[in-house]
Order: sequence, then C-alpha cells, then structure tokens
Amino acid sequence: MSVKTGLPSRARQRAAADHPSGDPRFSLIDRTLKRFSFEQDALIEVLHTAQEAFGYLSDDLLIYVAHQLKLPLSWVYGVATFYHFFTLTPQGEHNCIVCMGTACYVKRAAEIVAALQQEYCVNTGETTRDGSLSLSTARCLGSCGLAPVLVLDGEVLPRETPESTLIRVRERIVGSRSAAASQHGGNGAASNAAGAGEE
Ligand code: FES
Repeated sequence: MSVKTGLPSRARQRAAADHPSGDPRFSLIDRTLKRFSFEQDALIEVLHTAQEAFGYLSDDLLIYVAHQLKLPLSWVYGVATFYHFFTLTPQGEHNCIVCMGTACYVKRAAEIVAALQQEYCVNTGETTRDGSLSLSTARCLGSCGLAPVLVLDGEVLPRETPESTLIRVRERIVGSRSAAASQHGGNGAASNAAGAGEE
C-alpha cells in the first residue's frame, strides 16, 4: 500500500502519541479505544470518533491512532483515505455531501453538484477559499428511495433539485454570516459602552 510522502518524523510521532497539547478531545478518542479494548479491528470506530472530535483526520491524529492500536501508520492512512466519509483536510463552516450513487445520479445529482460548484467556485473534495462551504460526493447514502439525496451539515435532505439545494445552502451561509455580524455588533456595542464608562 502506498503512503503519501512527507510523513512526520519519529520525534513528531512520539509527540503525537503522548498528545502533550492536553487537548481534551483526545480523551474522546481514548474512551473509544478503551471501549473496544484497543482491538485493532476497532480502527474504523476510532477514526470516526477522532473525526467527530476534531472535524478531520490530521497527520497527528492518524499517528496517534496508529500508535494506540499498534498498527502500521501506512495501514491507518490507507483506511482513512479509502472510505469517503473520512476527510484528511479541514472542513468548511458548512458541509455538503451530494450522493452520486446510481439512483441519485439518474435524478440529477450531477446537476446539483455542478450548480454548487458554479455558485461557490469550489470543486468536489474541496473547501471554498473563505472556508464557508466544503463540497463532497458519496457513492450511496443508503436512502435510494429518497433520491436525489444530500447531507447538509449532518442533515439528510431528500428529493433535492439544483434550485432547492442552492436556496438551502445560501440560507445556511447567509444565516451564519448575519449571526457572526450581529455578534460582532453586540461585542462592539458592549466595548463602546465599557469605554464610555471608563471616561
Ligand atoms: S444512490 Fe443515493 S442514496 Fe443510494
């Protein structure tokens, strides 16, 4: 099995194994490891937990999991890259997975992907430059009767069209932007008030 080049040095492997960062998210991974008694067969479960905790599987996480399960790093990396539900790059604020399995494909799934790519200038498997949206595809999400299906921020959406998907994604992105803007506005008002009080 081939492994990408530029894997971390031994020193970095040791550091990741000890996770000196003290990041509490590692305890979630540790819990899953213990639940499965550090069985090597639990690799996928452990990777799932790691991705849920961190959002994506960084090199450090793969090294940590490989070390804890006493598996070759090349094996862990191979599994993480084989399954579409694992991602090795940081995800955007919103995440859209479009099913491109046969049932969805014949019901315009490719048009949904194309509409998103055009609207947000993003390729599948990538995140927009502003980090607002990650777009990816899946082979079959197991809900063929609801085709075409996509998953937006963890929510399964049935019988989508390019138009309905664009509206939904737009709403999500605009919604989070206005929430961030009002939060900044609130903070600004609070600091202005504090500044006035100091005079
Ligand atoms: S092909 Fe899309 S859910 Fe099965």
